[in-house]
Amino acid sequence: MWLLASCFAISFVLATVLSVGNLEFRANLTAKLNPPTNITIVDRQLGELTITWKDNLSEDIKKWSNVRYLFEFKYFDSDDWQEDSRHQDPEYMRTFELHRGVSLRVKNILLDKQRSIVINESNWTLKNIQPPPEIYNPPVNLKVLPNLTVKWEMPPGYVININCFAFELEVTDLDKCNTELLGLHGETEYVLVNINPMKRYSVKVRMKLKHCKETKFWSDWSNEDFIERIHSFNAYQMLLMLAIITAVTGLLLLFVFRRYKVLETVFKPIPDPQKKFKALFEEYNGDFQNWINCQIPISKADECHPVAVEESSEA
Ligand SMILES: *[C@@H]1O[C@H](CO)[C@@H](O)[C@H](O)[C@H]1NC(C)=O
Ligand SMILES: *[C@@H]1O[C@H](CO)[C@@H](O)[C@H](O)[C@H]1NC(C)=O
Ligand SMILES: *[C@@H]1O[C@H](CO)[C@@H](O)[C@H](O)[C@H]1NC(C)=O
Ligand SMILES: *[C@@H]1O[C@H](CO)[C@@H](O)[C@H](O)[C@H]1NC(C)=O
Ligand SMILES: *[C@@H]1O[C@H](CO)[C@@H](O)[C@H](O)[C@H]1NC(C)=O
Ligand SMILES: *[C@@H]1O[C@H](CO)[C@@H](O)[C@H](O)[C@H]1NC(C)=O
Repeated sequence: MWLLASCFAISFVLATVLSVGNLEFRANLTAKLNPPTNITIVDRQLGELTITWKDNLSEDIKKWSNVRYLFEFKYFDSDDWQEDSRHQDPEYMRTFELHRGVSLRVKNILLDKQRSIVINESNWTLKNIQPPPEIYNPPVNLKVLPNLTVKWEMPPGYVININCFAFELEVTDLDKCNTELLGLHGETEYVLVNINPMKRYSVKVRMKLKHCKETKFWSDWSNEDFIERIHSFNAYQMLLMLAIITAVTGLLLLFVFRRYKVLETVFKPIPDPQKKFKALFEEYNGDFQNWINCQIPISKADECHPVAVEESSEA
């Protein structure tokens, strides 16, 4: 009997102590429920961020309740907070469109240990992640190869897919100070055309992010490389060259004329027309009609034979 009574007494006292503890705990919440602190980006792979925080809750709170975290995010250009499920661990991983700028917020939630209902929650703790600087570092190591292929490299530290970038190549004719801009994207080389080997050029390139996230800000220009003239003449050399070309051409023409007797042909006397008429009298006995028919090409040569004339006269 004593045993039973003392058992009752002990359990009553324990229950009272527990419930008093629970009440006291709840009463303490007024002052104690800190919002999370130290939201930190611990890893960044392309757009994927790993974010951690500290709940900054006392051991007492953790003893009397289950702590959960509610994590939400919102892009700078949007009004909607996007909610994710409650998290048990103070860690969150997600791919963000960082170029839009993103606000993160997290709060502590206390769940009743037995009934898993929300006892209380903290205020939000906010962290803004500014979009990356709109302007990029310029491409590096630009080179013009002897076959007029221009090559360059991305500035160090760019892990973003190269297809996201637009490039602008500037080719300047240094003699005329004419500049040509060539738009490219997703390529780090280009074969130059329309390069006059008599001229000097400078070549440089800049880049901007294009397809993945559009910005209108170009990077600075890369280093410059030059295309040196392959041939150059001064006025005296030009005249000398012209004289040589003229002389050689003259000699060559003379040789050709002599070799093929072109001159003889050109200056041949005009043939005497009388010779052509000889046949009219010798072969056709002055029959002009017959003679002229045979001068005009006819499909059947036979028809022109003088005998044909006799036959036709008989008929
Ligand atoms: C309530 O707060 C008091 C004073 O801050 C502290 O001594 C006590 O342990 C707290 N109780 C609980 C259950 O957290
Ligand atoms: C959280 O605690 C405060 C102070 O005790 C209280 O006013 C508030 O209603 C509680 N919130 C919830 C969701 O229980
Ligand atoms: C927050 O982070 C800083 C730097 O990492 C550290 O010194 C500080 O103790 C942290 N605070 C909390 C509450 O963990
Ligand atoms: C953590 O909470 C305490 C109160 O319990 C507060 O004084 C302190 O400033 C908080 N830490 C941070 C980093 O906010
Ligand atoms: C929560 O935020 C509101 C408004 O910013 C503030 O008045 C209140 O004191 C905060 N509560 C806690 C527990 O920090
Ligand atoms: C130009 O030259 C480079 C190296 O000499 C070579 O790798 C490349 O294929 C060439 N490009 C063209 C279009 O000939």
